[in-house]
Amino acid sequence: MNDLRIPIHVAMIMDGNGRWAKERGLKRTAGHKKGAEVVREITTYCAKIGIKYLTLYAFSTENWKRPKLEVEYLMKLLDKYLKEELKVYLENNIKFRAIGDLSKFSKTLQNRIIKTQEVTSSCTGLTQVLALNYGSKDEIVRAVKKLNERGLEVTEENIESCLDTSGIPPVDIMIRTSGEVRLSNYLLWQNAYSEMFFTQTYWPDFTQGEFDDIISDFSRRERRFGAV
Ligand code: IPE
Ligand code: IPE
Ligand code: MG
Repeated sequence: MNDLRIPIHVAMIMDGNGRWAKERGLKRTAGHKKGAEVVREITTYCAKIGIKYLTLYAFSTENWKRPKLEVEYLMKLLDKYLKEELKVYLENNIKFRAIGDLSKFSKTLQNRIIKTQEVTSSCTGLTQVLALNYGSKDEIVRAVKKLNERGLEVTEENIESCLDTSGIPPVDIMIRTSGEVRLSNYLLWQNAYSEMFFTQTYWPDFTQGEFDDIISDFSRRERRFGAV
């Protein structure tokens, strides 16, 4: 692990929960449940190896199109996850932050999110960023509105300061599980110069070992940022 370049910001599209479950003759929701366990494992691992930001796509602005029962299950799972996670965040010095339009969630869930952010606000290790009712286009539209309201000049810095990810450095590594090779409206601005990795593994089967392999591969990549 010696000459590994540890990225500052890793973003993940945690995909394949439903297919993982179906292949086992289970309901899609069983895949989400197992997926939440993997979120805990990967998050604490990122904290341990010194990554500063881990941004996880948990629910997109498009995911409301899913069957009502699945959406309800995901909302309950999120509330349960945050409730149980508080102790884990504090024990591991992890700060929690949410991005996305939270106004569409129930008041109970909104309060849970706000409380989790407040209670972990003085943690200084990893920041776990959950993308909740997040869509990159929606985020950019809301950012432009804020820019107007604040009467700010249109510059890259000012746009960045109005994005949900304000203050968070750009993505170094972007990983999508489950074999799909697309961004699905995720961090379009923030991924401008990220190194991308696509794996066939379904999210519930994603392991620290596979993550280590991605970090080694990242360490060998030459990032030119347009220069020579
Ligand atoms: C990702 O897994 C989790 C969410 C979108 C909440 P999916 O539920 O999209 O699983 P697949 O892609 O249908 O297998
Ligand atoms: C992206 O996965 C959203 C999350 C992982 C939360 P989807 O499964 O919703 O994306 P598409 O529909 O396959 O592009
Ligand atoms: Mg999917």
